[in-house]
Amino acid sequence: MKVTIFGTGYVGLVQAAVLADVGHEVCCVDVDEAKVEGLKNGVIPIYEPGLENLVVENFREGRLVFTTDAQAGVNFGQIIFIAVGTPPEEDGSADLQYVLAVAATVAEHMNESKILVDKSTVPVGTANKVRAAVKEGLDKRGADLDFDVVSNPEFLKEGAAVNDCKRPDRIIIGTESEETEKVMRELYQPFNRNHEKIIVMDTRSAEMTKYAANCMLATKISFMNEMANIAERVGADIEHVRQGIGSDPRIGFQFIYPGCGYGGSCFPKDINALIHTAAENGYRTEILNAVDSVNTRQKQKLFEYISSYFNKNISGKTFALWGLAFKPNTDDVRDASSRVLMESLWAAGASVRAFDPEAMDEIGSIYEKEPGLTLVKTKEEALKGADALVVCTEWPTFKAPDFEIIGRELKAKVIFDGRNLYDPAAMKEKGLTYYGIGRSSK
Ligand SMILES: NC(=O)c1ccc[n+]([C@@H]2O[C@H](COP(=O)([O-])OP(=O)(O)OC[C@H]3O[C@@H](n4cnc5c(N)ncnc54)[C@H](O)[C@@H]3O)[C@@H](O)[C@H]2O)c1
Repeated sequence: MKVTIFGTGYVGLVQAAVLADVGHEVCCVDVDEAKVEGLKNGVIPIYEPGLENLVVENFREGRLVFTTDAQAGVNFGQIIFIAVGTPPEEDGSADLQYVLAVAATVAEHMNESKILVDKSTVPVGTANKVRAAVKEGLDKRGADLDFDVVSNPEFLKEGAAVNDCKRPDRIIIGTESEETEKVMRELYQPFNRNHEKIIVMDTRSAEMTKYAANCMLATKISFMNEMANIAERVGADIEHVRQGIGSDPRIGFQFIYPGCGYGGSCFPKDINALIHTAAENGYRTEILNAVDSVNTRQKQKLFEYISSYFNKNISGKTFALWGLAFKPNTDDVRDASSRVLMESLWAAGASVRAFDPEAMDEIGSIYEKEPGLTLVKTKEEALKGADALVVCTEWPTFKAPDFEIIGRELKAKVIFDGRNLYDPAAMKEKGLTYYGIGRSSK
């Protein structure tokens, strides 16, 4: 099938490569000329395991093409994915300008019937807005062409996006049309062989499913962080508690890690967008507000530990920071906890020597002019001249470090572990002071 994808970010590019890989012909359109030029030359703009090979190979074989020419893109595909960003507005609502811009572009250039697929995370009712925007564009041209709009939210996890797209847990198709459902089933048939993964529902339920999923996951994290904050006050170790509750199959071990808060481009914005949608529809959310505020507070946790350990004398101190990305296996630093911590440390007069396996360029370009930041090439180099070590991201390379080097290099011999990677008793034995999240043994 011929598919056009607007937006070559984490979602659009991965989806494009995976669809091309099973034999569909895919045209990617992006407004970012440098990105498109890079992609044509095999330069992948993001770090995502397995993506580079997939893109390069399918590009070479001609199933995957990149362009900034929207008209050519619209004419290419029978199915047109919208996978552009939906960043938060100041009031927390989702900014739909990019989604609606694509709808207008499609209306401007289409010459035959099209199916538009909302892949971006969009508030309930957006499919109708996209439909209205296309209709308005067609009316302006005096064109009478058939089209449909489907909601097909994406559930990939950054860091495992290729695998998630190749082997999705579920494929949600929100449509009221049997004809459109048939086309979407054909498109996804290669991903639906092992067992039935396609769930068809009305458009509004499909749009809401995406928000409900992210809100549930964020709730699990904030819940555990709240438990951690209680645990450390009552002399319990949240890691024991986690194991204890996770073994109940109704709770499960997935996604109940306490830590220094969630970040990324999705959870924070999607929770606020649903809070906003609820308010617009006359409902005051309680749980979602708490999930968000617990998380905002949790992102200050490491700074609070640091501040209390150094009796508020942080000015002039240097901190080794391991992990900048909002989670491992990605270079995405949008809303990352590391940024909140670094900004607090700088405001208190401290400096940071940071290392991340993939996210240094991203952080470097955001904090280009920050004198308090030194980016170094290895985790060991970050320790040089540092007073303390702080861990913000659970990259595998940080899980079993050489504690002798850490002990030797750190002036204050203290670790602030925002991901509970280390065993407090073992740290004590090695002569290191250890702060984990929600652990009693400080
Ligand atoms: N990143 C994730 O893990 C993830 C997972 C599921 C869903 N989503 C959702 O998918 C959507 C996209 O997220 P992302 O992380 O891939 O965003 P992104 O910022 O990485 O990429 C968006 C791309 O769209 C391009 N773009 C903007 N306007 C355009 C236009 N008019 N025509 C063509 N291209 C245009 C931008 O240049 C950019 O390359 C968002 O709604 C997000 O919430 C993201």
